[in-house]
Amino acid sequence: MATPATAAWDDLLKKIKSAPDAPTLDALEQEIFGRKQGLLTLAMKDLGSATPEERTKRGTELNRWKQTFTEAVERRREDFQSASLGSLATEDALDVTLPLPPKRHGHLHLIPEFIRSVEDIFGRMGFEVASGPEIETEENNFNLLNIPADHPARDSQDTFWLTRTGNPKKDMVLRTHTSPVQARYMQAHKPPFRIIYHGKTYRKDADATHSPMFHQFEALMVGKDISLANMKAVMTAAIRELTSKDATFRFRTGFFPFVEPGLEVDMRWQGDAAASREGDWLEIAGCGMVHPNVLTNCGINPKEWQGFAFGFGVERMIMIKHQIPDLRAFYQGDLKFLAQF
Ligand code: DAH
Repeated sequence: MATPATAAWDDLLKKIKSAPDAPTLDALEQEIFGRKQGLLTLAMKDLGSATPEERTKRGTELNRWKQTFTEAVERRREDFQSASLGSLATEDALDVTLPLPPKRHGHLHLIPEFIRSVEDIFGRMGFEVASGPEIETEENNFNLLNIPADHPARDSQDTFWLTRTGNPKKDMVLRTHTSPVQARYMQAHKPPFRIIYHGKTYRKDADATHSPMFHQFEALMVGKDISLANMKAVMTAAIRELTSKDATFRFRTGFFPFVEPGLEVDMRWQGDAAASREGDWLEIAGCGMVHPNVLTNCGINPKEWQGFAFGFGVERMIMIKHQIPDLRAFYQGDLKFLAQF
């Protein structure tokens, strides 16, 4: 019978020990232990034809080889397993005892958050929330509010016109302010009432304190014996609650065609005066007693009823509240900015 080619088997043993991967190791194992063609299997079968002494000697020898190969294969397989466990431990291991990373909670954007507090504050003062569309007729946006045809706000430099045929009831604009909601509401309701409304407004404007789209909130109160003193009281309470108790602000006369008398409100702020058109004071609101022409245009008798209206710039109030120097930060969607509030 053939003696095992010891040199070849030594060689096999070396191959097992240095097998580069599991499939190579499997193939070597098959080469040795394969049920039909395995080298060791065939050698064992050969023992049958050997003489009794030879069988004992060769059998012992083969058993030693069998054990050597088996151990070598096992050891190499363990090497592969611990290598893959090692990478699992550093990269993918799941340690269920580790504390979870803190959960990131989202929150409302500054603007809707502010508008909610506006609704809340005015709700407590008895104001109801009204609304109107962002695409308005020229009539509601301008005519009914006593804004004359030659007023600069009607200029195409300032306003986004959607159509321009010359018929104010049909021509549409992106509303330039929230004031058309006054016109809508007064035509549909009998006084007394007090309402608050807010939303997006549009003007062809862009710098640190102007954006082509911005938000306003506005109030209208119509009743008997309503005076400028009532207006000031409501506005002062709102400004203090919406910005700070110690807010510095001033009322000064101003002109808006839909109020008489008209006033403007400025607030002290620390913005970048060079980047905006404003100085140390930022204009935040317009206000006044509703012009008799506006009441008449909307079907309310000015001899019987009077009221006040005021409109605030939402972004500007938030800029003052949080000392934000540039209004464009509100719309850039930068989480580093938004997550601070
Ligand atoms: N609509 C004005 C604007 O956008 C702001 C304003 C001024 C609103 C006076 C009012 C008001 O209600 O009475 O500039």
